[in-house]
Amino acid sequence: MSDLKIGIIVGSTRPGRLGIQVGNWVKDNAKADGVEFELVDIADYNLPLLDEAIPAAAGQYQHEHTKKFASKIGEFDGYIFVTGEYNHSIPGALTNAISFVGTEWHNKAAGIVSYGSMGGVRANEHLRQVLAELAIADVRQNVLLSLFTDVENFTTVKPAEMHLPELQTQVDQVVAWAGALRSLRVDEALAA
Ligand SMILES: Cc1cc2nc3c(=O)[nH]c(=O)nc-3n(C[C@H](O)[C@H](O)[C@H](O)COP(=O)(O)O)c2cc1C
Repeated sequence: MSDLKIGIIVGSTRPGRLGIQVGNWVKDNAKADGVEFELVDIADYNLPLLDEAIPAAAGQYQHEHTKKFASKIGEFDGYIFVTGEYNHSIPGALTNAISFVGTEWHNKAAGIVSYGSMGGVRANEHLRQVLAELAIADVRQNVLLSLFTDVENFTTVKPAEMHLPELQTQVDQVVAWAGALRSLRVDEALAA
């Protein structure tokens, strides 16, 4: 499948976050013929706590920061979400950013790369519930990175070799579904 764009969404914003390192690891290792991968660091968008009066589903964005973020999200056919685990769920910055955008998420595919003491598995599964509401099809293959074995001294992300084939499988699944859902996205655009 070619001509697809996959956004790698980095979901944490705090100073010293591991998220950007994990995002760069995904970017460096995600490969598929004819597919473009782009890192989207939500920290770059300086989104405040949700300040749009009208729910995102209506697509009536008022603020420039929302229009800029929604326009970027709308460019992609699929996503790889990179999430740490905060209090057994996803970071507030990620859920906030997700809530700014509506139809731009719809009928896309996604994979999740998570990290935490238990591989971020609880955040990973919570994110799947959120993705369902965004009409995003999340693929089966997970990538779960451990703070103990994939992060040197809890500061430098160095995933074990075994995670590379996991990431490749996830990428293959996201690309396959992002391509398969393309006709739905075209129908939606024509109906709009
Ligand atoms: C507010 C907060 C809550 C956390 N809660 C959890 C948790 O519930 N489970 C876990 O495995 N790690 C938890 N951690 C540790 C994070 O997994 C670890 O700090 C990770 O690096 C966070 O991602 P980030 O570096 O991209 O911000 C928490 C960290 C923070 C800052």
